[in-house]
Amino acid sequence: MRLLFLGDVVGRAGRDAIAERLPGLVARHGFDFVIINGENASHGRGLTEGHFKELRDAGADVVTLGDHAFDQRDTLSFIAREPTLLRPINLAPGTPGRGANLYESRKGHRILVVNAQGRVFMTPVDDPFRAVEAAIAACPLGEQADAVVVDFHTEATSEIQAMGHFLDGRASLVVGTHTHIPTADHRILRGGTALMADAGMCGDFDSVIGVETEEPLNRFLTGIANGRFTPAEGEATLCGVAVETDPRTGLATALFPLRIGGSLAQAEPAF
Ligand SMILES: [Fe+2]
Ligand SMILES: [Fe+2]
Repeated sequence: MRLLFLGDVVGRAGRDAIAERLPGLVARHGFDFVIINGENASHGRGLTEGHFKELRDAGADVVTLGDHAFDQRDTLSFIAREPTLLRPINLAPGTPGRGANLYESRKGHRILVVNAQGRVFMTPVDDPFRAVEAAIAACPLGEQADAVVVDFHTEATSEIQAMGHFLDGRASLVVGTHTHIPTADHRILRGGTALMADAGMCGDFDSVIGVETEEPLNRFLTGIANGRFTPAEGEATLCGVAVETDPRTGLATALFPLRIGGSLAQAEPAF
């Protein structure tokens, strides 16, 4: 099975690039299932129902979130009726929506997707390690699931690498989101789990992590806010990771970083 995971979609630039390029990417590489992190899709802050539908229409089978999950107030209501939208699993008990779900691809593959939020340099949340472990224990790889994908949304690469080792042999892919910067540590661990510390963003890199440079730079220079953060609207780079899994075990057999369009060095999967 071939899986595509794309990192945080930032604003209109990211949404437009997804709409323009994702259908062609899926056709070119034969992806069976597509997961996109949409936490910054609506003006950099959260995800409206309309923008969620845009991502789904472009080819996302599942959309995940992060610390910006509920920046748009309407997400609190529509997430309850959208099983293909996930928010971090380790938020306060009673938070609307779900953090894990089992999906079926068009070809009948069963894919467990889990979204979790880290705790290093992040707002406090419950233990992500035990929360993800419980979700996977309820739907183990190679038994109830043909693939298990974990979107671990956090700032520190150390926390994501620890999660990868923790789940090695129990997940097909553990991938970080949130920093918006793609890392070059993508690899398959000894137990067969594909790991990448951050998928990077789907946004305009002529910016500070997707935000027009002027105001973030001003805040670093002066410490005083002098305006709002505005998503940069130049051509986006789509950033993510492509994984192929063994049909019998669900573990990773190949992974490739993906960077397409915009100003980053380009990388296209070799399968
Ligand atoms: Fe985030
Ligand atoms: Fe983000």
